[in-house]
Amino acid sequence: MSQPPPPAYTGPERVLSGVQPSGALHLGNYLGALVKFARLQHERETFIFVADQHAITVWQDPALLAQQTREIAAAYLAAGLDPAKAAIFPQSAVREHVELAWVFNCVARLGWLDRMTQFKEKSGKHKERSSVGLYTYPVLQAADILVYKATHVPVGEDQRQHLELTRDVAAKFNHDYDAPGFFPLTEALTQGPGARIMSLRDGSAKMSKSDPSDLSRINLTDDADAIASKIRKAKTDPEPLPEGLDGLAERPEAKNLVGIYAALAGKTDAEVIAEFGGKGFGTFKPALADLAVAQLAPVGERMRGYLADPREIDRILKAGADRARAVAAPVVDEVRRKVGFISL
Ligand code: AMP
Ligand code: TRP
Repeated sequence: MSQPPPPAYTGPERVLSGVQPSGALHLGNYLGALVKFARLQHERETFIFVADQHAITVWQDPALLAQQTREIAAAYLAAGLDPAKAAIFPQSAVREHVELAWVFNCVARLGWLDRMTQFKEKSGKHKERSSVGLYTYPVLQAADILVYKATHVPVGEDQRQHLELTRDVAAKFNHDYDAPGFFPLTEALTQGPGARIMSLRDGSAKMSKSDPSDLSRINLTDDADAIASKIRKAKTDPEPLPEGLDGLAERPEAKNLVGIYAALAGKTDAEVIAEFGGKGFGTFKPALADLAVAQLAPVGERMRGYLADPREIDRILKAGADRARAVAAPVVDEVRRKVGFISL
């Protein structure tokens, strides 16, 4: 006989996500993450942080880390996150994340972490030279999420495995400490246009801040000329756009540009094909460039505006951290009691 499922979590629904300050943000981050954050803040209590502790799992120049942390905060604000709605803060400012991460390091199993594909990709051929932090990275991520008992986490497709591990940690903690329904089984929100934006130079590689070619991505700080020129130079094939969606199946570069257009315009791929099917890239690329410039150039402008006043950014981050801590601290207190740490 199978066991009945344990009682479900019944607490409030909360949204949480974060981005690492380890390089300039690009169109993939914007469409796959930031735009979703700004939309979700109107639907549920929302916590959005800058993952500075995750960033140092690989070497970061300290002065640059501080600068990039404020840049991510500026990008959040420029993308429409409202500090009166969402709590916006640096991960390292809420110490409860690492305190819970230690307990979770003792809940998660080596076998679970051994399966993480991102570690395999990031550690490369010399895994013995990677930091231990890079290996336990997904455990800290589980703590980021569960310290707020977050129920919904908007992220790009590449984070799906880390969200599965988060659910495994929650279920094992609830089970081991006889606390059914204590932590929620968090859902990844990966759907929607923009979940996987590909490189402009190679339709089979993800758009990424670590790609050595700057032509592969549109950075949020690119000006109108740079945006238009990167789209003009984007790799394509010589065929016109197909009349139906099926015709995109074997054409990754064309599919990517159609997807970018759709995400920026708030349309479906099918609607974009209905409009541009049969037309060549000589027509489609300028239309895409106009749209991208109209949508993205103002975001870059606003970012620069926020960055001109770093003290205001810090004030927003501090207020966000205070709000976040007010939610996280009681959760960690409860965990301490459940684990058996005495309080003095
Ligand atoms: P990262 O740049 O890897 O720190 O990712 C920050 C956020 O952006 C995460 O939610 C990622 O899943 C998302 N993201 C990163 N690259 C892409 C991409 N090429 N397409 C869509 N989402 C992305
Ligand atoms: N690992 C995520 C990334 O690289 C960043 C991140 C850290 C995160 N902690 C998180 C995302 C918690 C969502 C929830 O994009």
